[in-house]
Amino acid sequence: MISVRGARPARARLAALGAYAPERVVTNAELASRVDTSDEWIVTRTGIRERRFAAAGETAGDMAVAAAEAVLASAGVTASQIDMVIVPTGTPDAMFPSTAALVADRIGAHDAAAYDLSAACSGFVYGLAQAAALVEGGMARSVLVIGSEVLSRVTDQTDRGTCILFADGAGGALVTADEGGTATGFLGFDLGADGSGGDDLVLPASGDREAVPGGPVPASGCIRMDGPAVFRFATRIMVETTERLLAALGLGIGDIDLVVAHQANSRIIDHAAERLAIPRERIFNTLERYGNTSSASIPMALAEARDAGRLRAGDLLLLVGFGGGLTWGSTVVRYEPLGAEVPA
Ligand code: ACO
Repeated sequence: MISVRGARPARARLAALGAYAPERVVTNAELASRVDTSDEWIVTRTGIRERRFAAAGETAGDMAVAAAEAVLASAGVTASQIDMVIVPTGTPDAMFPSTAALVADRIGAHDAAAYDLSAACSGFVYGLAQAAALVEGGMARSVLVIGSEVLSRVTDQTDRGTCILFADGAGGALVTADEGGTATGFLGFDLGADGSGGDDLVLPASGDREAVPGGPVPASGCIRMDGPAVFRFATRIMVETTERLLAALGLGIGDIDLVVAHQANSRIIDHAAERLAIPRERIFNTLERYGNTSSASIPMALAEARDAGRLRAGDLLLLVGFGGGLTWGSTVVRYEPLGAEVPA
């Protein structure tokens, strides 16, 4: 990607969506055959009925390629037009090369800069914020943001507190410069991080304090979570970030056509919906069938909402992410699809 000073900045536009879910369906009954839990407990406490697990050897990079290709096909845009590929992920194929660099190569985005982004389940909204800033700063014209996760590989499948939640999948969006000058685009973002709660949700990495020079990555490299603490944070922050952003924009919840929140637990979303008085029909959830796919959950849900006819050109969307860090990110954006993507 080459960027020269003086390039004409334009409004950033949410132009296309795409997703990929691995084939293997893992039901609550299958988990209940391995750990001390039940379908009834999982459905009541989380809203999840089944989730997808990647095939052996299938990586976040592989799934991100499939999602990126779906986004490009929807948009009718070729990979050579892409200036930047951002992959929010907590489960990259490697710390380096970045998964984004591998994805850019495999889709044929040979002129693109590429990097991974670490903000756990807020990663997709953080990625959108960066894409919008790059476009509106005149540095890029087309940015792919693809969240992709293989959480099944970093979840202790004998720990009933986490194995029921985390799953695999990929989803993303194309953010483009509005050539026509008519787009509303991203109205605003509220992003934040509170590292004092970092210990509540941890996925160790190669720089772990317990790692020894020359030694292997710590064997205890699975997700550790204080479920109730994360639950309290998520319910509080989903309400706070939404109220703060809407107030800053001078909007009410009635102005929003569709709310897509990070798919962590239906009780978190129900709680926020009640506090914010969001009508049920304005919320789109996929938890029941996909579980928590972290940075992939919002774009997977968006693509599914589009395919289900729940997302129309011109709709004003509220997207809310929250998760490890602890982090949060919300945005209000108008869905302004490119010609090829426009839902029927
Ligand atoms: N099946 C049956 N019983 C269970 C299970 C299970 N799968 N898991 C926990 N329990 C038991 C506990 O042992 C406990 O038993 P006890 O009372 O005898 O000690 C009881 O159920 C209640 O446990 P809690 O942990 O208090 O249950 P809670 O209602 O909080 O639900 C859950 C647990 C689902 C993990 C919830 O806390 C949650 O969803 N937290 C948020 C997690 C989350 O969203 N994390 C991801 C954030 S995003 C990111 O960045 C990754």
